[in-house]
Amino acid sequence: MKRDFLTIHDITAKELESLLVRARELKDMHKAGSDTSVLKGKTLGLLFEKQSTRTRISFEVAMFQLGGHPVYLSPNQIQMGRGETIGDTAKVISGYLDGIVVRTFSHSTIEEWARFSYVPVINGLTDLHHPCQTISDILTIFENKGRVSGIKMAYIGDGNNVANSLIEGAAIMGMEIRVATPKGYEPDSAIVSKARLAAKETGAVIEIMQDPLDAVKDADVVYTDVWTSMGQEKEEHGRKQVFQKYQINHETMQLAKKDAIIMHCLPAHRGEEITEEMMESPQSVIFDQAENRLHMQKALLEMLLR
Ligand code: CP
Ligand code: NVA
Repeated sequence: MKRDFLTIHDITAKELESLLVRARELKDMHKAGSDTSVLKGKTLGLLFEKQSTRTRISFEVAMFQLGGHPVYLSPNQIQMGRGETIGDTAKVISGYLDGIVVRTFSHSTIEEWARFSYVPVINGLTDLHHPCQTISDILTIFENKGRVSGIKMAYIGDGNNVANSLIEGAAIMGMEIRVATPKGYEPDSAIVSKARLAAKETGAVIEIMQDPLDAVKDADVVYTDVWTSMGQEKEEHGRKQVFQKYQINHETMQLAKKDAIIMHCLPAHRGEEITEEMMESPQSVIFDQAENRLHMQKALLEMLLR
């Protein structure tokens, strides 16, 4: 049976732990120049309705490193751009491809892809979730902190797709996550409730608050993302005012643990949600975090496509 990866809840904590081990193996093997071609003859489609640097490139390169092939599908160049339905397109491409990564706006659109596709559908970001980012971020946390369970993460900024998936990841992995957002910009309430249910089993703690300084106190990981996500460009001016104090800067980092790491999914707006100084600080693992997308996604592709 095909398996999709639309949200973090599509995998178990046990599976995520195995992915962490495998991603590290694949990363080491690649660095040592060893053969990692476990997906020979397999093909992955990539359909992006929003821009992407990391997700697109890391999935394309992941397929090459695994011995398979990526096929980039530009939404305006396939017949969908002229009105062919998702259902028909999904059924057709299922005959050619072994899996497809979709980046789109509404989360219900990717659910429609998953309903009609006979091959795994992987969420490359929707307005509501960014699960591939979260699993790679958990790899980065594991590499830097030697554990995931019990880690205290502060997320400051917009309660967006990245925040929603981090909450779900924290819940299944037994982390403590404090999310500080301005009033009205909280993470999705249904996602938070579901995560709190999962947290009961794992000992995770999920706190939603408004004061970024409270959130950052004693944190092991301090995370932020842009104030204005793709599709919200019209709100950019207003958001710049509302989010002013939701910034990772020298002062915020004084409250976190001395050895806290700084994370950002990128792309960043230096001087807005994070200062130039903190982007480049020795505490920042932001660029390793971007590289880990590649290795974690190789482990995910092996699990779903093999
Ligand atoms: N972090 C992330 O998903 O980046 P892209 O938008 O460049 O893919
Ligand atoms: N929250 C951002 C993440 C980009 C990777 C967005 O959706 O634009």
